[in-house]
Amino acid sequence: MTTIRPRRLRATPALRAAARETRLHPRELVLPLFVREGIDAPRPIASMPGVQQHSLDGLRRVLVQAADAGIGGVMIFGVPERKDASGSGADDPDGILNVASRVAVAEVGDALVVQTDLCLDEFTDHGHCGVLDDRGVVDNDATLARYEAMALAQAEAGSALLGLSGMMDGQVAAVRAALDRAGFTGTALLAYSAKYASAFYGPFREAVGSSLRGDRLTYQLDPGNGREGVREAVLDVEEGADVVMVKPAGGYLDVLRRVADVVPVPVWAYQVSGEYSMLEAAAANGWIARERAVLESLTSIRRAGAESILTYYALEAAAWLD
Ligand code: PBG
Repeated sequence: MTTIRPRRLRATPALRAAARETRLHPRELVLPLFVREGIDAPRPIASMPGVQQHSLDGLRRVLVQAADAGIGGVMIFGVPERKDASGSGADDPDGILNVASRVAVAEVGDALVVQTDLCLDEFTDHGHCGVLDDRGVVDNDATLARYEAMALAQAEAGSALLGLSGMMDGQVAAVRAALDRAGFTGTALLAYSAKYASAFYGPFREAVGSSLRGDRLTYQLDPGNGREGVREAVLDVEEGADVVMVKPAGGYLDVLRRVADVVPVPVWAYQVSGEYSMLEAAAANGWIARERAVLESLTSIRRAGAESILTYYALEAAAWLD
């Protein structure tokens, strides 16, 4: 039998490019941004070298860079000066997240999809994604009412896509109904459907100044469960999610593929803080080639089924792809 020769298509850069199944485009990248209340100069985040908490002025500058880079959007996280048990800064129109969103919509709302994190953990003093009952357990249905209030404040601020990252049961349906009742029928929902209880969110806690008491094991998914991730995505689509997400990305490419195979809406993935920090640490030590490793990781996420990727590398990767 003659030898079958798959290497033929790998022989030259032109052949490899012609045969490539998966390509990255800057439009498929979304940059997460941390905006901190009450600061004038950016604050570095030690566990995420190269990533900062922005002031409002700094936010304006990075938004212009993001629009110039031609990426798809930005996801805004607020870091409030004061936190309390109910996360009251979250639905305050003058709270940092809503102020920052209005700035973003005014600056780049035509060029980028301005997205906002819809979750309480940045705003609560106990660091949980919801409000607690008398026993200190996250109260699902009381939290839904807080999410509804947050959603209205974010829609009013002009956010185009609300990122529901709290993992409460029924959150998509509750928020969709509240928005529709208030006339915000055009505000879209990005459901963090398959969001795992992950150690890879570690550096994010520093980024948002969270001092989480306890853990998130009663609401985020167990890393051993793939089918449950699919179930959550299907439920969220039924509840009205416009986009569903799998998070983290790198360790959950199988879940990403399974979700992408069954849902009829766009599927996104979040390359989270710990994935960023691992790549940075290895690259800083000279153990991996930084640009190649970052692009390989993003390409793999794309290949596994994500149509867009939230990544702290969005600006840099867009420049590399240019
Ligand atoms: C919740 C939220 C988290 C992240 C995004 N949204 C933290 C968590 O669930 O513990 C993590 C993102 C990252 O690690 O980069 N508001």
